[in-house]
Amino acid sequence: MRAVAVANTNIALVKYWGKRDTRLNLPAVGSLSLTLEGLTTRTEVRFDASLGADRLRLNGAPADERALGRVSRLLDLVRSEAGVTAKAEVTSANDFPTAAGLASSASAFAALALAATRAAGLSIDERALSVLARRGSGSAARSIFGGFVRMHRGDDHDATGTSAFAEPLVAAAGWQPCLVVGVTSQKAKETLSTDGMTHTAETSPYYSAWIGTSEADLAVAERAIATGDIETLGRVTEASCFAMHASALAARPAVVYFRGATIDGYHAIAELRKSGTPAWFTCDAGPHVKALTDLENAEKVAARLAEVPGVLSTRICRPGPAVRIVEGTS
Ligand code: DP6
Repeated sequence: MRAVAVANTNIALVKYWGKRDTRLNLPAVGSLSLTLEGLTTRTEVRFDASLGADRLRLNGAPADERALGRVSRLLDLVRSEAGVTAKAEVTSANDFPTAAGLASSASAFAALALAATRAAGLSIDERALSVLARRGSGSAARSIFGGFVRMHRGDDHDATGTSAFAEPLVAAAGWQPCLVVGVTSQKAKETLSTDGMTHTAETSPYYSAWIGTSEADLAVAERAIATGDIETLGRVTEASCFAMHASALAARPAVVYFRGATIDGYHAIAELRKSGTPAWFTCDAGPHVKALTDLENAEKVAARLAEVPGVLSTRICRPGPAVRIVEGTS
């Protein structure tokens, strides 16, 4: 009744922002991401009939009620599927800043979904695992897989939500994409992505325009990955990011994730590109700067981002692996 799983985080190149069903956590749009090497969450789940309630430790400290509630809801799905009634002790740790826009919920719920199903004795396929992880966090469905991943928004008439799953994409051979992360803050972000996207959907006059960009951007990005066309992928990555943030900026009141260093980071990336270096900006529900580039240029992009005032550290991430079990189930 015990298992330990490790999942890598992922960064969306074509973003998910908005839900069409909050109970099943169905996304309003599909999305496309790159799973990253080296940014991981390790989660242990132990079902124990002697526990009166689920327990959660996050990064060495007891978690708050909201985080525990999210974890318990996912465990409830696993318990009902497996016929398990025992409560669980969950211990989870990230090797990167939590809740600061480095998509910690993606790796966290991917690792939790695998560790919990394994500890409960369930054996489900990867697609079903991505559907389960999505119930915890939309972006987590993508961290079930390594490399480039496509998340499907699913079918509007699907009452169970099983059509909103992620799957890996086959990238052109010999291509070495990289994501450079410029960490700008270790502080917890102000607006959690769940709240930011819900508020955007409810109040932003640009929300429907943002939703309208998604399908075409996904198709362009998918083709670019299949053909190894980093220029096209980079352009669509930047466009999707700014369309998402524009919808959030127009919410009332505005949801602003950018800090000074984020904008300066964008300009540094745009200047690199003007001088011939392939690099494109993206940013999530936090102030960190991220640049899509390739392995050949990654050091140069990281060095330039490191010079931006407010960028505390940089990290070069190659494509990372799928979620995996690292300790058994005895
Ligand atoms: C900006 O997956 O954190 O990172 O489903 O409410 O948990 P919930 O949202 P979450 O949102 C991620 C938003 C994003 C873009 C993306 O990863 O696609």
